[in-house]
Amino acid sequence: MTALVAVGAQWGDEGKGKVVDWLAPHAQLVVRYHGGNNAGHTLVVDGVKTVLHVVPAGVLNPSTINLIGPGVVVNPDGLLTELEALKERGLLRDPSRVRLSGRAHVILPWHTTLDKAREEAAGELAIGTTGRGIGPAYEDKVTRRGIRVADLLDPEGLRELLVRIAEQKNFELVEYYKWEPIDVDALHKQAVEWGRQLEPYVDNTVHTLEEALSAGKSVLFEGAQGTFLDVDHGTYPYVTSSNCVAGAVCTGAGVGPTRIDRVLGITKAYTTRVGGGPFPTEETGEFGERLREAGAEFGATTGRARRCGCLDIVMLRESATVNGLTALAMNKLDVLSGLGELRIATAYRVDGKLKNEFPMTLAELKRAEPVYETLPGWDEDITGCRRYEDLPSAAQSYVERVEALVGVPVEIISIGPGRDETIARIDPFRPV
Ligand code: IMP
Repeated sequence: MTALVAVGAQWGDEGKGKVVDWLAPHAQLVVRYHGGNNAGHTLVVDGVKTVLHVVPAGVLNPSTINLIGPGVVVNPDGLLTELEALKERGLLRDPSRVRLSGRAHVILPWHTTLDKAREEAAGELAIGTTGRGIGPAYEDKVTRRGIRVADLLDPEGLRELLVRIAEQKNFELVEYYKWEPIDVDALHKQAVEWGRQLEPYVDNTVHTLEEALSAGKSVLFEGAQGTFLDVDHGTYPYVTSSNCVAGAVCTGAGVGPTRIDRVLGITKAYTTRVGGGPFPTEETGEFGERLREAGAEFGATTGRARRCGCLDIVMLRESATVNGLTALAMNKLDVLSGLGELRIATAYRVDGKLKNEFPMTLAELKRAEPVYETLPGWDEDITGCRRYEDLPSAAQSYVERVEALVGVPVEIISIGPGRDETIARIDPFRPV
């Protein structure tokens, strides 16, 4: 039995979906523990692309059970559409392979509307959210006026809750943002229908998880977003509204820290970011453009072009610390082929002083200038490599330099989007 957490080590979009899909056949259970349909995992199996937003990536493996834990926020329409698409393509013949916690909070129409209204009103100070209502949904959860999945199964109680919440939400929407109010009767009708359709999936996932762990099964916890989008440890306020770090598994899935065996940090071989906020190693010129083109760096959820830059070791060291990383998976190494000499940031210079730690404040981070080390590049197409030894020596040196600087071994290397375009240097689920 091994309980493994896969967590984004940068600003999200590290390719967690691909790694999780590759790991899933080794796990009997895959668990999402935070975030919502702001995430977008693109998986390519036998050349066919599947984009998942809330359903864990283990769904593509026919024997894996997939849990959506209490820490996730769920857009019912979004989830039902995703499930329907999987069913239509014959990828979800047994619906009991997806189980949704009755304690997960529901993203309601006023959450998405408020997300958009707030971003619009913020002008230049907008966070650049995905517009999926994530922040407003978590806000209601924390202020104890949220609606949970289990509430959708009790039409009478649900009406009372909706009426009470609508009063405050519609006031904010109409009086402050001058947007249209949300009709409570129509919403109630729709929410009861969501409950009816979701009921077969509703489960006490905490106990399903505990039973699996006690039975010695291997469990994979699938992180969304990334360490630097974590509401406590990220580049606040340019962050998402949930905890994304490995520790969030405990609260978001409902499992004790003693149950976790390994934490795999997922990084690209370079860095990307979507939305606003500082990005010290960002390349706004030709090199950044070449990275974006070669890496097809456009968001799976919103289609936005991603900002691109060099690999930042300061970030990866911070990520190793806050997540307790036991290994790294390095994705998209193939994208660096043919780009010439490669730079990696090993420290920052802030106000003339050398800094090895990730700055604590946004103001300091904005002033941080990366200190680069230059490494030789390679021109070979590496997508056909299946063993570490097949990689050109410059690519191996790149990987090994990252390992030495971060102090964490790179156990998995991805050299293309397909499942088979993966090099595993060691079995991540080997017994502890
Ligand atoms: P929100 O999560 O929609 O509230 O967006 C907050 C910030 O997190 C924005 O900068 C988004 O671009 C970013 N973000 C949210 N989800 C993802 C993701 O899955 N990948 C990358 N960035 C994300």
